Order: sequence, then structure tokens, then C-alpha cells
Amino acid sequence: MKLLVVGSGGREHALAWKLAESPRVQKVFVAPGNGGTATETGVENAPVSGTRGLIDFCKREHIHLTVVGPEAPLAEGMVDAFRDAGLKIFGPTRAAAQLEASKDFAKRFMVRHGLPTARHRSFEDAAAAKAYVAGEGAPIVVKADGLAAGKGVVVAATREEANAAIDAMLGERRFGAAGSRVVIEEFLAGEEASFIVMCDGTHVLPLATSQDHKRLRDGDEGPNTGGMGAYSPAPLVTPEIHARVMREIILPAVQGMTQDGHPYVGFLYAGLMIDAEGNAKTLEFNCRLGDPESQPILLRLKSDLLELIEHALAGTLDQAEAQWDRRCALGVVLAAAGYPDEPRKGDRIEGLPAPAPDCRVFHAGTRLDGDALVTNGGRVMCVTALGDSLRIARTRVYEAVEQIRFDGMQFRRDIGHRGLKKSRAGSS
Ligand code: AMP
Ligand code: GLY
Repeated sequence: MKLLVVGSGGREHALAWKLAESPRVQKVFVAPGNGGTATETGVENAPVSGTRGLIDFCKREHIHLTVVGPEAPLAEGMVDAFRDAGLKIFGPTRAAAQLEASKDFAKRFMVRHGLPTARHRSFEDAAAAKAYVAGEGAPIVVKADGLAAGKGVVVAATREEANAAIDAMLGERRFGAAGSRVVIEEFLAGEEASFIVMCDGTHVLPLATSQDHKRLRDGDEGPNTGGMGAYSPAPLVTPEIHARVMREIILPAVQGMTQDGHPYVGFLYAGLMIDAEGNAKTLEFNCRLGDPESQPILLRLKSDLLELIEHALAGTLDQAEAQWDRRCALGVVLAAAGYPDEPRKGDRIEGLPAPAPDCRVFHAGTRLDGDALVTNGGRVMCVTALGDSLRIARTRVYEAVEQIRFDGMQFRRDIGHRGLKKSRAGSS
């Protein structure tokens, strides 16, 4: 059978590679794909865009199933349109995707269903927002309501910083309509983890745990990015914390969505803040897999991903089991010159290592220019490897990274530092 993956990032390359491994799959198309999906075994790029164009493509090519990678098409209702056209697609509907697309929707939802999250208020008026900040004090967090590609959150150390963020979002409309409402919330201390599950509307299948690194530079400094690296499992998420997160956050969320009339089918990603006592609160929900978390997670997945997705679409995820490689996986993102503000395109990439069973390069912002591979976006690729420990996986990744060259290449040299500290302390 033939499948379609929608998107062009590292997450989509990993999805397409994993789906192409399924013995029942003849070909995986990726629309629009990247330089890595163009050359991946069993995978082919489809230069098709827009929901209408993709629906026509699926009909013409007799695509068995479509998997959507990024949030934007989900928030725009791609799943609803495919279902209306009688096509099989895995992802939340437009209504369910509001869990990510509107922070105000997500916060109201969490409060209504008793999920632990930071205390918050929403505002459309700058003066009222500032008065609230004056009452609460700093540190405090200001978030644009809508999708802002991970850039709409300001963790303000002072009231002045918070007020400046309010002015930028509500006054200057720096994020356009996405910032016409702001959510202001309590600052939570702790360590973050990514908790990603598959949902079939009723049942939940948790994927392996992971952690990513959002800041550009070593030591978690510099601007926020889409993510500079990730690893799985996350030693922070002990079996006890895992059970609590399922009981206190994930299951109530899935039940709550059904109760509210928006049964959730798709990948669901809870960004968690876990405090020193092991209490987890939800920072955000994403209605998709994480990027770069998917790359290490999918490298560890031993089960047939197509089978898991088919269970999710049939409402039988309770009968599915995911098998994971016992090894750790770690991925390091190589980013283009100028990322995250103004990434440069067109730099020639050389020295890519051949794929190996324990090390793969998942492409994101790359493109084939004739026979040459060139940069084509901010996050260029994610070098991902398996190892018996996080340290060994990390050594393997950096050996591969050393071979890769392009002008202006940026990457962090400390991916996994938190997990390594925890493994050394023996808490995993
Ligand atoms: P979000 O897009 O809501 O996950 O926010 C992006 C990043 O901002 C998170 O990954 C955290 O690092 C940080 N952040 C968001 N909300 C809070 C909060 N309430 N307290 C502390 N840090 C936060
Ligand atoms: N790595 C963070 C995200 O996918 O949202």
C-alpha cells in the first residue's frame, strides 16, 4: 500500500522512514518533503500542497492513509476535509487541534477538567493585562494566544519585561492575530519533559518519554528555538511520575475532549514542568509529535508504526503494544547560519555519513540542487543515534556530526546534559 506524510521537517523524515519499514508499505510519499526524504529508501517527495491538492493526490494515487506532521494544517482542518472526502487520515480535527492552536482554549479546558497547570488569566486589553502583572509580580509568563511557531512565549524576569511583551503582542501586534489575546500565567520552576501519546478518542498508548533543548546555545542560553536536540528516554520521568502524569493529565485530557464533544484522535504532546517533588504541571499541549523529539523516539520504536496508527483509527489502541529498543537515543540538530532569526539558505552540505542501524541523519531544512545537497531552512538536520547509555549514544552522534560540514553550521555540544547528570546520580 501507499501512504502520505504531510510536512517537510525532521519529524516528517523520521515518520516516513519508519512507515516505509512496514512490510505492508510499498511507498511513502512526503508532501512537500525535503532533501532527505527525496533520497530515503521507499520514500518519494510529492510536490503537492494545499488541502484540496492533497485530497486529489490521494485519490489519484490510491493512498491508503495520510499522517499529518505539523500543527498548522491540523489547526486549519485538514483532517475534517479528508474525512469529508472519505479518505483515511491520522490526526486531530480542527476542533480538537485547538488544544494547541489556542492557548486560551487549552487553559480553559485544563481548568474545566481539573488538569494541573499554571494559574492564569487571559486578556485582550493591554491596560488590564498590565494591572494583573502589577498585582502578581515577576517572574511571570506572557503568551500569545495563537500559533506563533514557538516564539510567542516570554518568560519575563521583571514586570517591565512583562509589560514590554504585552505591548509587543497586544499593541504592536507582533504576532498578528495570534497575539490579539494574551495568556498571562504563573512562572513554574522545575525541569521540562515531553510526554507524547497516541490517542484513538478513548484509549491512550504512551510513546517513549523524551526531553528536548529549546535554547540555541550550550548551557541552555540564548534565544528559544524550535528545539536544538532531544533524547529518549527522559530519566526525569520515573515510573512513578509516568503513572501520575497518565492519571492526572493524559487520561483526564482525553476524557475531557470526548465530554466536550471533540474526541481526540492523533498524537498528543503534553509539555510538562516537573518540580523537585515530582509534581507535574502542563505547560502546553501540542496536537502532533514533537520535533526533534520524534527523531530519537522513532529510532527506538521497534513496533510497526502503521499497525499502531491503524489501531488508533479503529479505536482499538487498548489492544496495541509498542515495543521499544532498550537503548537510549539522542539527536543533535544542526542549524543554519542566522537561525533562529534569519536562517540563511543555499549553503552546500558535505560529509553526510551513510545511514547505519544505530545512527541516522533525519533531514529538515535541506534541498537537492542537482546532485548537491544544500541548506533550505533554519533547522537543517538532526543527527540521531542509539547507544547502550545516553553517554554512548551522545558520543556516537557527535562522531557523525564531526564529519558534516556546511558554512555557518550551528549546533549545541551539550545535548543530553540533564539526562546525563540524572543517570550519573543513579535516579534512572
Ligand atoms: P510553551 O510554548 O507554552 O511550551 O512555552 C515555551 C517555553 O516557555 C516552555 O518550553 C518553557 O520553557 C517556558 N514556559 C512556558 N510556560 C512557562 C511557565 N508557566 N513557567 C515557566 N516557564 C514556562
Ligand atoms: N520540540 C518542541 C516541539 O515540537 O514543540
